[in-house]
Amino acid sequence: MKKFAISLFVLISMIFLVACQSDEAIPVSGESSNEVQELKIKFAHVVAENTPKHKGAVAMKEYIEKESGGKIEVEIYPNSSLFGDQDEYQNLVANNIQFIAPDLTKFVGNNPQFNVPALPFMFDNDEEAIAFWDGEKGKEVLSSLKNDGVLGLSMWPNGGKHLTNAKHAISSPEDLKGLKFRTQGGQVLESIYTALGAGSESIPFGELYTALDQGVVDGQENTFSNIESKKFDEVQKYMTIMNHTRVDYAVFTNTKFWDSMNAETKKIVEAGLAAGTEVARAEAKSLNEKALETIKERGNVEIVELTPEQIEEFRKVLEPIYEEYKDEIGADVIEAARQAAE
Ligand code: LMR
Repeated sequence: MKKFAISLFVLISMIFLVACQSDEAIPVSGESSNEVQELKIKFAHVVAENTPKHKGAVAMKEYIEKESGGKIEVEIYPNSSLFGDQDEYQNLVANNIQFIAPDLTKFVGNNPQFNVPALPFMFDNDEEAIAFWDGEKGKEVLSSLKNDGVLGLSMWPNGGKHLTNAKHAISSPEDLKGLKFRTQGGQVLESIYTALGAGSESIPFGELYTALDQGVVDGQENTFSNIESKKFDEVQKYMTIMNHTRVDYAVFTNTKFWDSMNAETKKIVEAGLAAGTEVARAEAKSLNEKALETIKERGNVEIVELTPEQIEEFRKVLEPIYEEYKDEIGADVIEAARQAAE
């Protein structure tokens, strides 16, 4: 009976979602002509305004609205204000929104190869991560959601992640024992915490501040710009600069929407995406640097900067993860990432 009720609920939810499909983003004029079509495009994301993702989205909006002479309108919904981690993908599939730019490690359920940003100490900086996702293997992974009617368009970096927690300073792998960390999700991040003797739980970004405040988890890993803009340092006491994993995004769109644009319209939207990519890539590093300064100025967290020897200790403990995930992620994908990181 319970199973039947659950199935019925899932069925009703799906019918509801399909019924809610928005056609606003399907062009209303000039589909077959060369005129720019009238469109309303929605871009939803989960982070704050002062982040590379939002700045990229704004650059994209400004370009598209200007170049289309106002015929194309782009609405941006930051801070999980329209959809959050739990529902933005389904709503992209349903074409209720036309762009999302999620942290790729949130997609490992669709394809374990999206675990690349979670591979410990794989990339030292944005340039290396960009080189992987712009390369052949990276593009292959980004196009792996085709069966859902979703197209991966362009990688936008945020940066390296660092640990915060409310219990004590962390400077060696042993210091994580018994603590519980929030992750963005996915098997590799879970294995990292298991290897370090800690627990982990995946929690949507929009619920993270409250989860930290209420002690649901002791800590989390994130970029400086996410920590600063969401004020996680208000509810954490320690921060260790680690750069052990990354937050990297890709802009995804709905294929049906994408294919519904005529050549003139698509040219503007594609150029808008390129403008957004340029800004997101150019701003990521400086926004993280500025965010670190702000965190230091606020003085809420005690900051631990690891020595190269201390980083090496973490690296050693986490090294077996590469062997553990070689088959699932693919030796070819890991090798391509290594080459990009050289
Ligand atoms: C997080 O959930 O911590 C981040 O992935 C959020 C984001 O989109 O940067």
